[in-house]
Amino acid sequence: MMAHKLLSDVVVLISGSGSNLQSIIDNADNIGIKIQSVVSNKADAFGLERAKKAGIATQFIDHTQFATREAFDQALIQHINTLNPKLVILAGFMRILSADFINAFAGKILNIHPALLPKFKGLNTHQRAIDAHEEFAGATVHFVTNELDSGAIILQKSVAIESNDTAKSLAAKVLEQEHILYPIAIKKVLQK
Ligand code: GAR
Repeated sequence: MMAHKLLSDVVVLISGSGSNLQSIIDNADNIGIKIQSVVSNKADAFGLERAKKAGIATQFIDHTQFATREAFDQALIQHINTLNPKLVILAGFMRILSADFINAFAGKILNIHPALLPKFKGLNTHQRAIDAHEEFAGATVHFVTNELDSGAIILQKSVAIESNDTAKSLAAKVLEQEHILYPIAIKKVLQK
C-alpha cells in the first residue's frame, strides 16, 4: 500500500480563463496540495468550469454587489476563513486586495505577475516591455503585500522578446512559462 501523502490545503482566486489554475490542478499531487475552493469575482470566468470539471468546489463572489472594496474583501475573508488554508493563491485574480485581506492571510498569499518584477508592475505589462525595448519579458511569482506587485519574489522565468513580437504573441509565450513556473514556486514555498 502507498503511504498517504500529507496535502496542504489551498484556495485559488481567479477572475478569468484560469489556465494557471489548470496547471495547478494538473500538478496538485506533485506540488502536494489539495485545492479546497476556487473563488471567482466573475460569474463567467472559464476557470470555474475547469474547477468543476476537476471536482473542486467553486464560489462566485460578485464584487459589484458590494458597496466598497472592503465589504467585498470581508466576504472573501469569511469564505476563506471557513477553509483555513495554508496558502491563498491568486491566479489571474484581477482585483486589488485591501489591507484587511492581506493582513488576514499575511505571508500566505501568492500571486503570479506577467512581468519580470520589479519592472512593469500593474497592467499592460507586455506592451510596456516592448515599448521600453526590453530584451526579456517574463513572469514572477511573489508574496502579496500591501504594496502592489512588490512583495518578496519567490521565482521568475524570462522569455526573450523577438523583434516581431506583439503584446499578444509575448503574452502567449509568457503564459506558457507561467504554467511551468507557478507549480514549482508553490511547491518551493510549501517546502520551506
Ligand atoms: C496571467 O498571465 C497572469 O499572470 C495575469 O493574468 C493572466 C491570467 O491568465 N495576472 C495578472 O495580470 C495579475 N495582475 P489565466 O486566467 O489563464 O491564468
